[in-house]
Amino acid sequence: SIPTVQKKIVLLGQSSVGKSSLVSQFCKSEFFENQEPTIGPVFLSKELEFSTHKVSLQIWDTGGQEKYANLSPLFYRNAAAALVVFDLNKECTLNKAKEKIQALSTYGDPNMVITLVGNKCDLERQVNSEKVKEYCEENGIMYFETSAKTGNGVEGVFQQISRKFKLPKK
Ligand code: GTP
Ligand code: MG
Repeated sequence: SIPTVQKKIVLLGQSSVGKSSLVSQFCKSEFFENQEPTIGPVFLSKELEFSTHKVSLQIWDTGGQEKYANLSPLFYRNAAAALVVFDLNKECTLNKAKEKIQALSTYGDPNMVITLVGNKCDLERQVNSEKVKEYCEENGIMYFETSAKTGNGVEGVFQQISRKFKLPKK
């Protein structure tokens, strides 16, 4: 049978930017207008199949509310990738995302794949994408825009990250 690589991936970002909605859309093709704030952590898994191997993603979602902020270093330990999510409709969530990326780069595993995700692209936007792209290029991180509501771009984020997870060399 085809070999499987298992990887932990975490979602970070302010409350209500759509972390749980992204996971729900990706893992179950479901979206809820009234998605409840996560008390978390919540764990889901999903397999992606490539030609030579499968990637089994262990997806960890947690609450972005300020009272959980101190927990995040524990949460991203051993993570192969981090999705830092912000709301394209709320500029202040981008600033928080940048702080989070700074913390991940400083305290996280240097091999961790850090990805910035601008969610809610179905709404009218407040954030200038070009500036975000520049920031990501300067910092060597991938950038995606998504809508957890319509599903636009969601699969692509997880696909692109998973492509980096190769089988260990023998
Ligand atoms: P916490 O668990 O508190 O950290 O929040 P969260 O980041 O998990 O956000 P959640 O997924 O709960 O979404 C918050 C609200 O935004 C919910 O009402 C969702 O229905 C809505 N929402 C999430 N993603 C989108 C999106 O892409 N477009 C639109 N229009 N609404 C979205
Ligand atoms: Mg949530």
